[in-house]
Amino acid sequence: MQIFWWAVGVFVVVEGVLLYAVVRWREKPERGRPREVHGNVLMEIGWTLAPALILVVIAIPTIRTIFLVDRPPTDPDALVIEVTGRQWWWEFHYPELGITTANEAHVPVGRTIDLRLRSADVIHSFWVPRLGGKRDLVPGRENELWFRPDSVGVFWGQCAEFCGTAHALMGLRVIVDSPQDFEAWAAANGADAARPVDAEARAGRGVFMSNACVSCHEIRGTVAKGQLGPDLTHVGSRLTIGAGLLDNNLENLIRWIDATREVKPGALMPEVDLTEQQVRQLAAYLLGLR
Ligand code: CUA
Repeated sequence: MQIFWWAVGVFVVVEGVLLYAVVRWREKPERGRPREVHGNVLMEIGWTLAPALILVVIAIPTIRTIFLVDRPPTDPDALVIEVTGRQWWWEFHYPELGITTANEAHVPVGRTIDLRLRSADVIHSFWVPRLGGKRDLVPGRENELWFRPDSVGVFWGQCAEFCGTAHALMGLRVIVDSPQDFEAWAAANGADAARPVDAEARAGRGVFMSNACVSCHEIRGTVAKGQLGPDLTHVGSRLTIGAGLLDNNLENLIRWIDATREVKPGALMPEVDLTEQQVRQLAAYLLGLR
C-alpha cells in the first residue's frame, strides 16, 4: 500500500505537469515557433535524483519485508504443511495431524502456516497471490514459505513456473477456516475413509479396488495404497477436482473419470477401460468419501 500511494503521488505530479504544459503551451497561430532549449543542468540533476530518492524510500519497506518472509518463522506454534509439487497437482501433508490431501489446503485463521516446499519431478512454483509470496519447488531441495492468514475465506492459487503440458491447469486453493472449522476438518480428514452407504457407491468401491486405481491412489482404511496420484481418502469433501479445474460434483466426476485427458490435456492418469455404469458407480463412491 505504501508503494501504491507513492505511485499515485508520482502519477498525479507527472500527469498534472503534463496537462498543464499541454494546455498552457498549446499551439496558437499568433505564437510562431517556440524557442529551442538544449538541456538544463539543474533540471537534469533534479529529475535524476527525485526518482532515485523515491526508489530508495520504496526499497526500505520492500527489502525489510523480503527478509522478514525469507527467514523461517520463529513462531514455535506454526502449523507445518509439506507441499509437494507434482505434474500437475499439489500434495499437502500435515505431519502433525497425519493428514494427506491434494490441491486444497485447509489452514486455521490467525495461526502461522509454515510451508515446506518440495518437488517430485520438475520445478513448480507455489503462488497464492493474496497470501503473499511466490516460491519455487525445486527437485532435490526444500524451500520454505510462511504466512499468517488474518481472514477466513477461499484463496486461489496457481503454479507459477512452466512445468509441462498441464502447467496452466495446475491450480490450488487455500481454505482459511475459523479455528473451530479447522478442528472439524482436521478431525474428519484424519479419519479413515467413510464406508459407502448405498448400493451404487458400494459397487463403485468394488470397481475402484479391482482396477488400476489402487496402484496410484491411496484411500486410507482400504487396500488402495498407491502413492503416484492424489490421496482420495476424503476426496468427496473437496470443492474441486483435477487441481482446481472443475467443481466437485457427480456430473464432473463422471466426466473426469471418463475422459481425463480431454478435460485436462497432458494429465498423467491413464484411462481405464470402464463401462458407463462402472464410471457412474465409481463417481458415486468417490463423492461419498467425505
Ligand atoms: Cu507446476 Cu507449473
